[in-house]
Amino acid sequence: MASSRGEFSSRFGFVMAAAGSAVGLGNIWGFPTQAASNGGAAFLLVYLFLTFTLAYPALMAELIIGRHAHANAVSALRLISPNTLLKRIGVSTGVFGFIVASLILSFYAIVASWMIAFCLSSLASLAGMESLSRWLTSFSLPRNMLFMLLFSGLTITIITAGVKQGIERWSARLMPALLVLLVLLVLYVLTLDGAMEGLKVYLLPDFERALSPKLIIAALGSAFFSLSLGVGTMLIYGSYISDKENLPVLGGLVTVVDISIAVLAGVLVLPAMYVALHNGVQIFTEAGALISEDTLIFTVLPELFATMGLVGKVVSFTFFFLMSIAALTSSISMLEVPVAYTIEEHGFSRKTAARAIGGAIAIVSTLILLNFDNLFGFVIAFTTRYSQPLLGFMFCVYAGWVWSRHSILEELRKGYPEVEQGLFWKIWPWYVKFLCPLIILAILAQSLIG
Ligand code: PHE
Repeated sequence: MASSRGEFSSRFGFVMAAAGSAVGLGNIWGFPTQAASNGGAAFLLVYLFLTFTLAYPALMAELIIGRHAHANAVSALRLISPNTLLKRIGVSTGVFGFIVASLILSFYAIVASWMIAFCLSSLASLAGMESLSRWLTSFSLPRNMLFMLLFSGLTITIITAGVKQGIERWSARLMPALLVLLVLLVLYVLTLDGAMEGLKVYLLPDFERALSPKLIIAALGSAFFSLSLGVGTMLIYGSYISDKENLPVLGGLVTVVDISIAVLAGVLVLPAMYVALHNGVQIFTEAGALISEDTLIFTVLPELFATMGLVGKVVSFTFFFLMSIAALTSSISMLEVPVAYTIEEHGFSRKTAARAIGGAIAIVSTLILLNFDNLFGFVIAFTTRYSQPLLGFMFCVYAGWVWSRHSILEELRKGYPEVEQGLFWKIWPWYVKFLCPLIILAILAQSLIG
């Protein structure tokens, strides 16, 4: 292990950073609305099931490989491969992963920048600057560009500061703040008229809808996106964990935090929508379906806040601030993937790598903004629907088939000497070897044919 490599200084630091990566727009924006329009609690059950049976094992594959190699995905997959062909495939997988991570960041930075703009818009409105406030929610190109660059700049600054001073320090500050804000918002919204109706829609299961194949694909995609899998993010975070730590427990903690925040966000967003309905805001489309994701956050919720007067402005500020924090702790984990690769494989300094790659990604974001209708949806589908599960499949194959079982056991034993006696070792090895790759492939094939 290179002595200059960073390492998380504590278990808490790692869990906050990895949970910070996992908890993002996917949890607070994507999950609640998907659950709402797809069978409520039944979707929640399918999602929980897929997360524990497929996403958690895949997360463990990344964490174990990462900590063993103490390196980025490209070097790590090369290290665990026994021959030239497998080394080549491993390197290509790692490289594809960092391209996908960069592409995810290019659209994520755009959505995150809207969150910051909406957050500042509430502040401007509180200060009586109404025309500024309107401009901030306008979706004009200048506003989009300005805030995308601002958000990219923030991400680059944190990554430049490194693992302990940047990622760990900021995640450990921002994540608890996020949790507190979320709980406060939930408690407030639940006191409003109409909230209980929303809670019912969220918690009453409709199994017929939740078990349709289309939905299972959607739930799998969300589970992989939500745990930041496939692109090498968790592998690189795993590479910064100290050898003393018990990996299955750490991975479990991250999974539980991620799911809990998604579930909690549902308790906020669904009741909020029905409060909006109660206040006269339209929340159903003509066809009677619940309004879809992007419109929900950027139209329904602001309309709801507007019906609440001064309190609404404060709540709106808090809500979009929360979204901005969630996005930032995720975006830094995306940028860390190509940056770590460039530092370790090509010897660049952290500062140069972070600026050059962050700058290049901002250029891609600009292209997306200039060509929004054609590129935005396409990049999201390409990266999250297809590439992430496919890459997740590759990591499972490398952990299950390529890497020797003996070395995996050695790696796990470092922080968990009695691992062989535990449930994890009885299930996980054959699980990542057979079940995970097969199911991921089956679902992917389904989605390609369908
Ligand atoms: N998990 C993040 C979210 O839920 C997104 C993410 C994907 C982060 C891939 C890193 C890598 O929003």
